[in-house]
Amino acid sequence: MTQRVLVTGGAGFLGSHLCERLLAEDCDVLCVDNFYTGTKRNVVHLASKPMFELMRHDITFPLYVECDRIYNLACPASPIHYQFDPVQTTKTSVHGAINMLGLAKRTRARILQASTSEVYGDPEVHPQTEDYWGRVNPIGPRSCYDEGKRCAETLFFDYQRQHGLDIKVVRIFNTYGPRMLPNDGRVVSNFIVQALRGEPITLYGDGAQTRSFCYVDDLIDGMVRMMNTPQGFYGPLNLGNPVEFTIRELAEKVLSLTGSKSRIERKPLPQDDPRQRQPDIALAKGKLDWQPKVALEDGLKETVRYFRELLAQ
Ligand SMILES: NC(=O)c1ccc[n+]([C@@H]2O[C@H](COP(=O)([O-])OP(=O)(O)OC[C@H]3O[C@@H](n4cnc5c(N)ncnc54)[C@H](O)[C@@H]3O)[C@@H](O)[C@H]2O)c1
Repeated sequence: MTQRVLVTGGAGFLGSHLCERLLAEDCDVLCVDNFYTGTKRNVVHLASKPMFELMRHDITFPLYVECDRIYNLACPASPIHYQFDPVQTTKTSVHGAINMLGLAKRTRARILQASTSEVYGDPEVHPQTEDYWGRVNPIGPRSCYDEGKRCAETLFFDYQRQHGLDIKVVRIFNTYGPRMLPNDGRVVSNFIVQALRGEPITLYGDGAQTRSFCYVDDLIDGMVRMMNTPQGFYGPLNLGNPVEFTIRELAEKVLSLTGSKSRIERKPLPQDDPRQRQPDIALAKGKLDWQPKVALEDGLKETVRYFRELLAQ
């Protein structure tokens, strides 16, 4: 039987890659998006596929469709976008989760929540394991996202306990790749766009601070593996790349891959620059036999190719 899979936020960065992957596995894919941070351009190449359907819908409103599986990804993910309309951000996480869980309850669909490493807030333990409860400010400018996602997790686990729903929760750490937005303020897209435009690359502090980023293909693979785990394994489960690199290293790699003459411009480290966040992926390794495979250099090449084409349009 062909599986009918609903992907909310399917026209976004991660969602569009997930739709591609599911279509390659012969699923019948319904992509639902309100195009807040996603675009039709991300899925236009899928439009001619008979098993693909695109629906404009805001998940803060109920949705009545038939499906066997739901991947709930709808939610703006970068601070610039989720802070633009913080009330809508919380509504998307909370009302959106209630609506999608209600749909899963009616259709008896298995449902996966795209949660985030932000549920750990400004953590006191490194790297973060899933049993760490987090340290989140409930009233700050980032809270609409962090607390919205935390509440969504609560709803998932309560629907499981109260209604026996077949749930899965993944906590996603920083991910990069083609179809990121060029203006979302993230370091990978920032550096690449600056390099391709010949603008100075802004390096905050001395560039010795480290980050870890997961390439999108690896992340999607982990998400699909989680969805396919036996009933009764709910998570939460971390997905991300524990391999760290310095921001200076990233800037230099981007310069060499783009062949750009941009110079590196140093600026003082912003006060709220997040401290280290790094996933512990032992659970994913054990339960999913999963770990990231794509090297930073290879992932960056694909991402540079994407932005080069985008900026040439
Ligand atoms: N990319 C990352 O590094 C990362 C890290 C942690 C968690 N996540 C989570 O993964 C999911 C996807 O993130 P992304 O990076 O692809 O972001 P994205 O902004 O590219 O995708 C989100 C999609 O959801 C859509 N959307 C937003 N509000 C909606 C609503 N009310 N109704 C319907 N659609 C709506 C947007 O238009 C967009 O297409 C998000 O839930 C995000 O919180 C992503």
